[in-house]
Amino acid sequence: MDPIRKAQEAMADRFKRMVDDFFSIQVRYQSAIREVETKLAILDDEYNTRHRRNPIHHMQSRMKSIQSIMEKLERKRYDVNIDSAVKNLMDIAGIRVICSYVQDVYTVANLLTKQDDIRLIEVRDYIQHPKANGYRSLHLIIEVPVYLSSGKVDVPVEVQIRTIAMDFWASLEHDLRYKAPEVPQDISDELQRIANDIAALDDRMQRLHDQVDALPRPDNL
Ligand code: GTP
Ligand code: MG
Repeated sequence: MDPIRKAQEAMADRFKRMVDDFFSIQVRYQSAIREVETKLAILDDEYNTRHRRNPIHHMQSRMKSIQSIMEKLERKRYDVNIDSAVKNLMDIAGIRVICSYVQDVYTVANLLTKQDDIRLIEVRDYIQHPKANGYRSLHLIIEVPVYLSSGKVDVPVEVQIRTIAMDFWASLEHDLRYKAPEVPQDISDELQRIANDIAALDDRMQRLHDQVDALPRPDNL
């Protein structure tokens, strides 16, 4: 067989093995997402019974596709196989939690990470320290135990917690990056200004909410 054909077949074999391995680990990441989503839903419900409102506006979750796993391993110059993905990638399972108010972001993060089966691996506070482009969010990497027939595995989950306004900004910026890898200067300047406006708006909404919260509750409620 000619060398090019041989190399192509070897690559196809490697890809097929990776896909098979991917399916074998999929269940643990999907289960980890379910575990963390359930924890968050319980916290949200219980908070509602005490405070008559929900800190969580909504949640989204996703498992990274095999294409993005391979692409990220290549980009970060790690070995491209499933063992390497499990060891090196902390965001195969991802949950995004959208809150109404900034304070809720920290309340949710604290209530989740103080649970004793959750191990906090990393915190990146892009609200206190926004990225240069204006991106704001609180990022946690946590590890949650998942019980399989073969025993317990601790599975990392990336949790991004942000306000509705921060999410609004991040989705526009995300779309833009797809369309224009080289963002024109006027657009990035405007994005930066909007990020500042949004931060100011989040602060004002928080203060107003606190004021409303402090008003006496009518007797008939
Ligand atoms: P990755 O290599 O992507 O994992 O980056 P990192 O390890 O430096 O982590 P970081 O916390 O910066 O980003 C993780 C995730 O947060 C990304 O995959 C995005 O979902 C989100 N994110 C980070 N920065 C930005 C940003 O500037 N804009 C938007 N829209 N999303 C971002
Ligand atoms: Mg990351």
